[in-house]
Amino acid sequence: MAVEKTCCASAEEEKAVRTALEAFEPVRTNLIPMLHAVQETLGQIPGWAMEEVAETLNVPVAEVWGTASFYTMFDLQSRAKHIIRLCESPPCHITGAAGILDAIQEELGIGPGEVTPDGVFGLELVSCFGVCGVAPAMIVDHEVHGNLRPEMVPQLLQKYREQ
Ligand code: FES
Repeated sequence: MAVEKTCCASAEEEKAVRTALEAFEPVRTNLIPMLHAVQETLGQIPGWAMEEVAETLNVPVAEVWGTASFYTMFDLQSRAKHIIRLCESPPCHITGAAGILDAIQEELGIGPGEVTPDGVFGLELVSCFGVCGVAPAMIVDHEVHGNLRPEMVPQLLQKYREQ
């Protein structure tokens, strides 16, 4: 699987990650502890840090990505290319958020807190983010989508798949 280089690490972040990784013997069995160390250091595991881990262990980046994607203990942001945040607060709930959730689950085969096996989509349920006037609503990455209907979901997600 191709892994995009994630922009951009500051010099301090890079140094902090390198220092954290130096604490480990560079053997494959330390992959998960290293990912934990990166998450503790940065609060997430961005792509560039996965590359650092891969380089340190001399393993393919895809292997690091695959491991980080598999374990739910690693931050969702670091596990999916596009994050879908569906509002579940009352105004969205009563206008059909459950139907939108069903449509997303049917389209992607994942539930809340999960990431698709290809790492393209992650799904989260969130509280009101202030666009109740267009409920039900969700945010994909930083883009708000409102007045949703279940039949809109496949086409909407397709747009992100192609990005
Ligand atoms: S209740 Fe969903 S955006 Fe406000």
